[in-house]
Amino acid sequence: MRVAVVEGDGIGREVIPAAVEVLDAFGLPIEKVPLELGYGKWEKCGVAIDDNDLDVLKSCDCVLFGAITTPADPNYKSVLLTIRKELDMYANIRPIKPLPGVTGVTGKSDFDFVIVRENTEGMYSSIEEIHEDVAYTKRVVSRKGSERIAKSACALAKERRNDLTIVHKSNVLKSDTLFLNVCRDVATSEGVDHKDMLVDAMAYSLMKYPERYDVVVTTNLFGDILSDMSAALVGSLGLAPSANIGDKYAFFEPVHGSGPDIAGKGIANPIAAILSMKMMLEWMGYQREAELVEKAVGNSILEKITTHDLGGNASTIEVGRAIADHVRSMLDG
Ligand code: IPM
Ligand code: MN
Repeated sequence: MRVAVVEGDGIGREVIPAAVEVLDAFGLPIEKVPLELGYGKWEKCGVAIDDNDLDVLKSCDCVLFGAITTPADPNYKSVLLTIRKELDMYANIRPIKPLPGVTGVTGKSDFDFVIVRENTEGMYSSIEEIHEDVAYTKRVVSRKGSERIAKSACALAKERRNDLTIVHKSNVLKSDTLFLNVCRDVATSEGVDHKDMLVDAMAYSLMKYPERYDVVVTTNLFGDILSDMSAALVGSLGLAPSANIGDKYAFFEPVHGSGPDIAGKGIANPIAAILSMKMMLEWMGYQREAELVEKAVGNSILEKITTHDLGGNASTIEVGRAIADHVRSMLDG
């Protein structure tokens, strides 16, 4: 297996080395291919990602990715969106699962759900018309795009509690009527129990009753918003991992961004990046190793070796090292 390792900008440069330290504790036959992309590269070379970079990414099986800063410059093309599109990684999988000893805004820990976010169309079509006094963004929902994300969500639901919630706004957006109908048809033919919710009602319900949900499938922008919101249920954006999965490639990244306000201080929580690396191990078929990562993360939290967002005073590197040490001792034991 070849993994492209992209630290990117800001706290990406701090959390990815911590995730790599945990990965290295296993000594698996994984070749790491470092690649510089993002704002830092743009400042130096005038491009944030070029064709050669895309070729390198495509020569790897998957990508471990930190975060990238996107400046408000009209000439700057989002690296993340370019990669998701070029590698056609249409399913953005965002698990929302409490870790031992940490509770979020509701104080609850009896829930475990996954947001499956469509990753290539919706409001992120990049089909836009900008005039001085009016601007348009085209929201694209296709049968093909809806079908493949519905299939991914159903496959996941079957491995879990066989319970799918389709989130949409079809009372206003006709494009979502297509999304809803396609998702319902796929779920019915796959034998997955399903219900649907309007996105506004869903935002409320997720905060009040997160335990009611198993797999949640939705369009791009709704999934973006609901996943940041749901990170508050587990206690910190610094704990939320994600995987972008296509038929060929996969890409693993923490949900948080490059955190320019805390970058360079060594205080960023590396757990979201470490759990994203855990999702990479699962995708590669290293199931047992993935479970060990999750246990090691839990152990280090219970020992209170945490960054400040979880009330501790450990640095990013110290948390990474503690988790890697737990992995090593579990492997030896
Ligand atoms: C995310 C991010 C990205 C998105 C941005 C940086 C383009 O917020 O991964 O959730 O909206 O997809
Ligand atoms: Mn987001």
